[in-house]
Amino acid sequence: MAFDENGRPAFLLQGKPRALRTEEVSQIVGVFAQAARNAREGGFDGVEIHGANGYLHDQFINGALNTRDDRYGGSIANRLRFTLETADAIVDAIGGERTGIRLSPFGRYNEMPAFDDEAETYLTLASELSKRGIAYVHISDQTRWADDVSIPKNFLQAFRSAFRGPLILAGGYLRDNGQAAIDSGEADLIAIGKPFIANPDLVERLRNNWPLNSWDERTFYTAGAKGYTDYGVCA
Ligand SMILES: Cc1cc2nc3c(=O)[nH]c(=O)nc-3n(C[C@H](O)[C@H](O)[C@H](O)COP(=O)(O)O)c2cc1C
Repeated sequence: MAFDENGRPAFLLQGKPRALRTEEVSQIVGVFAQAARNAREGGFDGVEIHGANGYLHDQFINGALNTRDDRYGGSIANRLRFTLETADAIVDAIGGERTGIRLSPFGRYNEMPAFDDEAETYLTLASELSKRGIAYVHISDQTRWADDVSIPKNFLQAFRSAFRGPLILAGGYLRDNGQAAIDSGEADLIAIGKPFIANPDLVERLRNNWPLNSWDERTFYTAGAKGYTDYGVCA
């Protein structure tokens, strides 16, 4: 997100991506670990590795997108290697209880293609993460973002059996469907995005059944107070 040639805020094309050289991958792992140390030093309680939504780790995990022929591509173990090395480095740096990870199994955002062993890949990742005792997994559920996205029935259940720690779900949840997901054992926690942008006192509103402000998408990626700090609170 930047300014286009007419000075208007817009999404702009970035540089053409290239494959990392094998030896660069471990440097990137080191950079993630340093970022986690920096976050702790800066006063954060912990960090969430962003392994979802088409970002770097997701690109390695995806069996259709990842065409590498080194130890970071091909088999499930190879495709998970970068993510697990990152998790290990961060756990070493700041402790497992301070390390979470965000994943988007079956997500198609940012043009992530479907791949054959998608469920098996993520279930393997879940059990590997479980062994590491990290604080939580946070699933970015894209099923309400796009019509062609769905998480297969029973997948979340299988994921929960494979990953024994706390599970967070995000994506189109509010009080009722969030509570239903918690009650049915689908998740331990629900993360809420857009309603929070528009309702600084969201917790109070949900607790008291007060009406909600609706969000204004036109202000999501703009600078200044409008759409950022000017949504009112309930009196
Ligand atoms: C303005 C805005 C920017 C976002 N940017 C990102 C992003 O850069 N990366 C990402 O993974 N998710 C991003 N998200 C998605 C949120 O992390 C979150 O998953 C989502 O908003 C949760 O769904 P909900 O808004 O329906 O509660 C963004 C959401 C909004 C509203």
